[in-house]
Amino acid sequence: MKKVLVATEKPFAKAAVESIKQIVEGAGYEFKTFEKYTTQEELIQAVADANALIIRSDIVDSKVIEAAKNLEIVVRAGAGYDNIDLAACSKRGIVAMNTPGQNANAVAELVFGMVIYLIRNQFDGSTGVELRNKKLGIHGYGYIGKIVALIAKGFGMKVYAYDPFVDRVLIENDGVKYESKLEDLYTKCQYISLHVPANEKTKKSINYDLLKLMPEGACLINTARKEIIDEEGMLKLFEERKDIKYASDIQPDCAAVFAEKYKGRYYFTPKKTGAQTHEANNNAGLAAANQIVNFFKNGDKTFQVNK
Ligand code: 3PG
Repeated sequence: MKKVLVATEKPFAKAAVESIKQIVEGAGYEFKTFEKYTTQEELIQAVADANALIIRSDIVDSKVIEAAKNLEIVVRAGAGYDNIDLAACSKRGIVAMNTPGQNANAVAELVFGMVIYLIRNQFDGSTGVELRNKKLGIHGYGYIGKIVALIAKGFGMKVYAYDPFVDRVLIENDGVKYESKLEDLYTKCQYISLHVPANEKTKKSINYDLLKLMPEGACLINTARKEIIDEEGMLKLFEERKDIKYASDIQPDCAAVFAEKYKGRYYFTPKKTGAQTHEANNNAGLAAANQIVNFFKNGDKTFQVNK
């Protein structure tokens, strides 16, 4: 009997796990969970007899792939798959998938939770600023960027977007102003929300030269990946400009410097929180389970991210 292992260092909500179990067992497969592990070594041991893996930000590197002798498919229940060694998967003929869009709303809502917390001075009672009539620049107009735009309009913001992979018409159809040049987005918008994946092209691409273009009172919101930020450049800017703020849904490597020098100008979630809602756990977890069942039963490879 094929075995489906849910290997999540940061577990899904209990109800989501129960629903995943029902889908997997209902299709006639064995279901197991491996949660809250603390070392990569434990994960390597846990995957030994799994035919399918459901993961979140868990690191599926070449060692995990090598140890998973029976593995046929790994599904990242979420958007970003920079935590999977795709080349190692392809070499073994293992299909890697994500579940695009399934946790997008949760991430988009967190953008506004973080930005309001920051621009209202962490609710310390001092005078803050509002979002209404301000310009929001969405860097990366995928599933999350699209919902961020929708919510921003509810706040009365003027919304701009840059995404070289999305057709201008699709952006403009949402009532969002299309920017063809990244520099223009950063020059115009006081608020910038990042929604780009971490890959060889984007790593450290949010750098000093780009960030320094942002207008007075700027706030950068990062619910994407810490790797896309050039932290050295960001620290240089923070030193030069007292008006800049940064909200991030992950601790940057230089978090200690922020804590020491820039109190009140940043907020970092202690642990990645964007997709951590009951709804997102359910949507992404169930989608992952269904994709595995469809792959085993029908050979369906929709959402495959490696070739
Ligand atoms: C994603 O890429 O889907 C998000 O970063 C969520 O990650 P998580 O499942 O580890 O919370």
